[in-house]
Amino acid sequence: MTVSDWREVTVTRLGWEADGVVSLVFTPTDGAPLPEWGAGAHIDVRLPSGTVRQYSLCGEPGGPAYTIAVLREADGRGGSAEIHDTALIGRTLSIRGPRNHFPLESAAHHVLVAGGIGITPVLAMAREATARGDSWELHYGGRAVTTMAFVDQARALAESAGAPFRLKAGEQLDLPALVRDVPEGGAIHACGPPGMLAALREEIKRSRPSLPLYIEQFTSAGTGSEEPAVPTDGEAFEVELFRSGETVTVEPGTSILEAVRTLRPDVLSSCEEGFCGTCETKVLGGTPVHADSILSQKERAENTSMMICVGGCASQRLVLDL
Ligand code: FES
Repeated sequence: MTVSDWREVTVTRLGWEADGVVSLVFTPTDGAPLPEWGAGAHIDVRLPSGTVRQYSLCGEPGGPAYTIAVLREADGRGGSAEIHDTALIGRTLSIRGPRNHFPLESAAHHVLVAGGIGITPVLAMAREATARGDSWELHYGGRAVTTMAFVDQARALAESAGAPFRLKAGEQLDLPALVRDVPEGGAIHACGPPGMLAALREEIKRSRPSLPLYIEQFTSAGTGSEEPAVPTDGEAFEVELFRSGETVTVEPGTSILEAVRTLRPDVLSSCEEGFCGTCETKVLGGTPVHADSILSQKERAENTSMMICVGGCASQRLVLDL
């Protein structure tokens, strides 16, 4: 069993963490241990409707179960509403992973920034930093304290670790001060809504362009991404599906995912905006153009995999492990 395989879990606990935020505990249905995970990891969850969504793991790494926390998003695409509105306790669901595109990178000091439900991976990072004996501080912003999950846990953890904890409810985080005060050798890890992350990027670009920033975004809308969502507006190119030997042409303005689905309608996707990792596919030949917000610069340069929902191709032909 690998992290790419789906496995069944039972929803053994539901809890309210804040207004509009529910936590779910997944216990392996077959009793076999779940793969280990580190802060920043997420899992794919297949809901009863068949919808697949990604959720960051929270709770304690190394435990016998996985915990996620889900915000009801009024204008979301249905995944969060299904979780909130379906009686899931005792139900069996399929999960896959964990995968981690947002690990806690080494730094002399960690500045952890969470906006809203972005606290889920960030709190796990605070725990991991504490376990490593690293120096850290946490900035947590939200609309109102009643809508902010895990405030008490975050505060208690910060107190026990002697780490500064700044809570901003109903007002913006002071990003200029936050960026200015990062000590030399420090790094920022941030997760939150697109507007907050875009503002943070801008502030760093403006005042401290060499400051390391690692982010995880829940949606790419309005993030100020400098890359096109579907960089296939130029010439058509061919995609070979290595395992079946079939070839499909990707026309300008079409994503590789859409083209591949004409032959393989079962290819998985979720966000279709390059931020969840569900459609990550191994590249066996050709030169991909990356447009996701997941792969690091190093991974992009290696060209061994790509997110086919947003990526394109700089060569005539791309060979994918499909
Ligand atoms: S479907 Fe989410 S990255 Fe492609």
